[in-house]
Amino acid sequence: MNPKSSPSPSKQPSSFRNWISFIGAVVGLGALFSFLLLFTLDAVAKFSNPYVSILTYMVVPAFLISGMFLALLGAWLERRRRACGTGPASLQIDLSQPRDRRVLVTFIAGSIVFLLLSAIGSYNAFHFTESVTFCGEVCHKVMKPELVTHDHGPHARVSCVECHVGQGVSWFVKSKISGSYQLYSVAFNKYPKPIGTPIHNLRPARDTCEQCHWPQKFSGNLDRTYDYFQSDASNSPYSIRLLLKIGGSDPKRGPVGGIHWHNLPGNKVEYVATDAARQKIPWVRVTDAGGKVTVFKTKNFTNDVSKLELRTMDCMDCHTRPSHRYLSPEKAVNQAMALNRIDPSVPWIKTNAMYVLTRSYKTEAEATNSIASVMTAKYPGNALVKAAIPVLQQIYSENFFPEMKANWSSYPDNVGHMIWPGCFRCHDNQHKTEDKKLTIKASDCNTCHTILAQGAGAELDKLAPAGQKFIHVGGDLDDNPVCIDCHNGGP
Ligand code: HEC
Ligand code: HEC
Ligand code: HEC
Ligand code: HEC
Ligand code: HEC
Ligand code: HEC
Repeated sequence: MNPKSSPSPSKQPSSFRNWISFIGAVVGLGALFSFLLLFTLDAVAKFSNPYVSILTYMVVPAFLISGMFLALLGAWLERRRRACGTGPASLQIDLSQPRDRRVLVTFIAGSIVFLLLSAIGSYNAFHFTESVTFCGEVCHKVMKPELVTHDHGPHARVSCVECHVGQGVSWFVKSKISGSYQLYSVAFNKYPKPIGTPIHNLRPARDTCEQCHWPQKFSGNLDRTYDYFQSDASNSPYSIRLLLKIGGSDPKRGPVGGIHWHNLPGNKVEYVATDAARQKIPWVRVTDAGGKVTVFKTKNFTNDVSKLELRTMDCMDCHTRPSHRYLSPEKAVNQAMALNRIDPSVPWIKTNAMYVLTRSYKTEAEATNSIASVMTAKYPGNALVKAAIPVLQQIYSENFFPEMKANWSSYPDNVGHMIWPGCFRCHDNQHKTEDKKLTIKASDCNTCHTILAQGAGAELDKLAPAGQKFIHVGGDLDDNPVCIDCHNGGP
């Protein structure tokens, strides 16, 4: 634009020369600027997320279009004005005029401030959508179970997108599509309760979990004590101390094998599941580092595998609950009793605690009130029980989400075998090779863990490094016990 030039009689000045079009142009430029900035930030970010794309590809373009619309509107109005014969262009700037100079300087300064603000604004919006606050809290009602359990889990400081999206262009696009769908389903109340798993477009663990825990890094054993209180009048204690043979996969750092054997670099374990939740696995194929293939299957499975979905086992096939851990009432109460937060000397407290936690409630508020009134009615004037009530209410609020129908029984936890099939989906002595010579091992209770000690009090000090035979306080078990036949984490 040449502000000094006065329109020549033959050529009319552009009809875009008017204030409305100018403002439109600034808004449009600001949006373009934000778009480029967000796009770059998103491209170089370690982990991208679907909500940033909603901002980048929906909100910012809306501003861009409004800017263009304003510019066109201005031009149209200007033409109309001129057509009505109301003189030459409405925007005539003469730099020799102090007033015009002031207007121009103000306009340029204002535009720069606007552009700067839109840059800062987009930068902050970008960080906000990346944050845990946005993912969990913006859809607070829907995501409450995941947010609360995430905050109490071992990954409290790992953001949602680091597991759910990961980095890279194609997943970025996929998550953009599902992210928009998620917003739609929340807005129109279309989401299922509880939210279903397995999540089918969840990114393979290689690109998420293994960014922080790479298989070469595993090594050694994990020493864990599990404390229980039985459902009798005296809440008899019983504990078991297990050495979990996590194992490793780096021959330079320790013996190779153990529980993480399935993920050894070079090993491939594939399987077919016959249910959506992947709890029934009749067919397993192992390809080892040397290329040797072994197929294990259950007796009754005769389907044609080529027609079924084959899944390669990764971290998530065992660690279904790395972040969102809904403790079973059994586990939560045992834990609180072992820590004396619920006093184990109160008769029948284990049984009654389980009872109040597992009654059916419609809302968290109803549960909170009911836990207090039922426990007070059962133990009138008992100070120890009075002290236990807030603990039970806390257990409830951290692990039960009646509004979303989410609790320990909604989602399989595939690590272990006591209340979900877990490892016993394959390690059940039923999966054999065609010639019946090989079986996926199960029967020996010291295969995956060594029972170091069990019992109560002084019995727990008698350590057996080579492992000992399991003593089941619930009575004798057969050779191939299916724990979930009797245990479900509830009463
Ligand atoms: C350590 C990794 C990790 C982090 C961090 C994480 N998740 Fe998950 N999330 C998972 C896995 C694994 C599943 C289960 C997937 C499956 O079973 O298919 C899951 C499942 C879910 C589900 C399905 C319902 C359910 O409870 O299983 C939702 C919704 C969800 N996550 C939201 C979130 C939100 C919101 C955050 C952040 C507050 C978050 N996740 C953080 C790994 C993670
Ligand atoms: C951004 C890094 C990061 C990512 C991604 C991540 N984790 Fe973790 N994970 C951690 C940290 C940090 C801890 C806590 C370490 C500790 O307690 O010693 C942890 C702990 C764990 C534990 C031990 C939990 C316990 O009970 O103590 C498991 C199991 C685990 N992660 C599995 C996973 C799985 C499965 C995924 C993928 C779905 C995943 N992690 C993704 C960082 C990560
Ligand atoms: C065959 C099932 C299985 C698979 C597959 C599996 N894990 Fe594990 N993992 C376990 C078990 C069992 C434990 C010990 C019990 C626990 O943590 O609850 C464990 C423990 C861990 C721990 C905690 C170790 C410690 O010393 O505290 C981490 C971290 C972990 N796994 C990450 C992973 C990652 C990452 C993958 C994928 C590369 C993976 N796991 C694959 C079963 C599995
Ligand atoms: C999808 C089926 C499947 C699931 C689920 C599964 N495994 Fe395995 N596991 C196998 C197969 C197959 C083998 C190899 C058996 C063989 O070659 O004899 C194996 C081998 C093992 C081994 C022996 C590794 C070695 O050093 O040779 C251990 C330990 C083990 N699994 C533990 C577990 C634990 C613990 C879980 C549950 C957290 C689990 N597995 C879940 C299929 C499975
Ligand atoms: C295929 C591997 C495997 C075999 C075989 C196995 N376990 Fe386990 N077991 C596990 C794993 C993994 C855990 C850890 C679960 C966790 O920490 O969440 C576990 C946990 C346990 C627990 C504690 C459960 C809890 O959540 O309170 C007991 C008790 C137990 N096992 C007993 C046995 C007995 C008895 C046998 C023999 C009949 C047996 N296990 C065979 C893998 C195995
Ligand atoms: C036939 C049913 C049945 C089977 C199968 C069974 N249990 Fe039990 N179990 C019981 C009963 C009944 C109790 C006593 C419950 C009580 O008093 O609280 C019990 C108690 C226990 C306890 C003590 C903690 C508690 O809840 O009281 C552990 C640990 C245990 N069982 C582990 C296992 C494991 C591991 C398996 C699978 C290898 C298994 N059970 C299979 C019925 C069974």
